[in-house]
Amino acid sequence: MSILLSPLSVNGLTLSNRMALSPMCQYKAVDGLAGAWHQAHYGARAIGGVGLVMLESTAITAEGRITHGCLGLWNDAQEQALRALVANGHDLGAAMGIQLNHAGRKGSAQVPWHGGKALGINDGAWPVPAPSALAQDGGMSQPTAMSRDDIERTVAAYAAAAQRAVRAGFDVVELHLAHGYLLHQFLSPLSNQRDDEFGGDFDGRTRFPLQALQAVRAVLPAAMPLFVRLSCTDGVPGGWTVDESVKLARLLRAAGVDLIDCTSGGIAPPQPRPAGVAFNADAAQRVRSEGDIATGTVGGITDAAQAEQILATGQADLLLLGRALLSDPFWPLRGRRELVPSPYLRAQF
Ligand SMILES: Cc1cc2nc3c(=O)[nH]c(=O)nc-3n(C[C@H](O)[C@H](O)[C@H](O)COP(=O)(O)O)c2cc1C
Repeated sequence: MSILLSPLSVNGLTLSNRMALSPMCQYKAVDGLAGAWHQAHYGARAIGGVGLVMLESTAITAEGRITHGCLGLWNDAQEQALRALVANGHDLGAAMGIQLNHAGRKGSAQVPWHGGKALGINDGAWPVPAPSALAQDGGMSQPTAMSRDDIERTVAAYAAAAQRAVRAGFDVVELHLAHGYLLHQFLSPLSNQRDDEFGGDFDGRTRFPLQALQAVRAVLPAAMPLFVRLSCTDGVPGGWTVDESVKLARLLRAAGVDLIDCTSGGIAPPQPRPAGVAFNADAAQRVRSEGDIATGTVGGITDAAQAEQILATGQADLLLLGRALLSDPFWPLRGRRELVPSPYLRAQF
């Protein structure tokens, strides 16, 4: 019996299998609105058989975007466009999740295919906030340190976006605490050098991310899953560690988080993406066993046998697939006839 194909129940939601589309920015939105590209891109992955389609990083405010092409969820028109996307995904058989994000100091950037550097003033650049006035690297935007009022407003913006996500019909809300974006910037001592109650030791650095999570949990129905995507390690000396992730996992569980999707990196200037197979699975295992919480893992999973092994050895409960599903939306169908939609059956995948 395949564990990969078995259902996964998380706080009131049952996913039909344990394969999920990993959130991947498309940078194809105009004014934060989902359009034809998003319908086709996410619809294809839903037909392709994943149990959960997790939407890309979606900005909670205009200043929280990475680029001008990011999806947003701070106004009614964006909520309406996402409602149509969710309805489409449900019709095609997948559960639908949304990754809520604020880019912090990684915001106001060009799309990657234009270089990914800070936007110029003539390209519609905007001021970006961060825990401390430290840029990600020389080519990125120079941030200003957030005031207590900025933090309070941003906590409220997370909650408002989560309320919109519920109204749009999403099954899962995920907060992005990874890859060097705002909440991760607060966690990591490399980017958070504040000397007030939002910086310093572990309790200080985790305060704002926990406040955002509590505010989001408070507006979600009790039986609606809340996920966190966490960079379990910065992978550089002096950065956030797996030990701290385990400690945070226990607090997240107490705050009503249902699953931690374990990833890594992103806080320091460009590092190569780790090579190799399932490169975040060991961290996922530690978070799962020592933090006593369900985990997802992502990174370097390219075949079903690896995925089964990760599930069978108790490293994770859910497999997030990124590049494998970009190059082949039908990856889940290969060799698994029970997943193939009837119109495709004659193709004998
Ligand atoms: C084109 C692209 C866009 C991405 N955008 C996001 C994103 O919006 N949010 C996120 O958490 N990770 C993002 N990632 C990281 C992936 O979700 C995933 O963690 C990473 O690609 C490693 O998994 P893989 O080896 O299965 O591709 C992106 C990756 C790619 C290739």
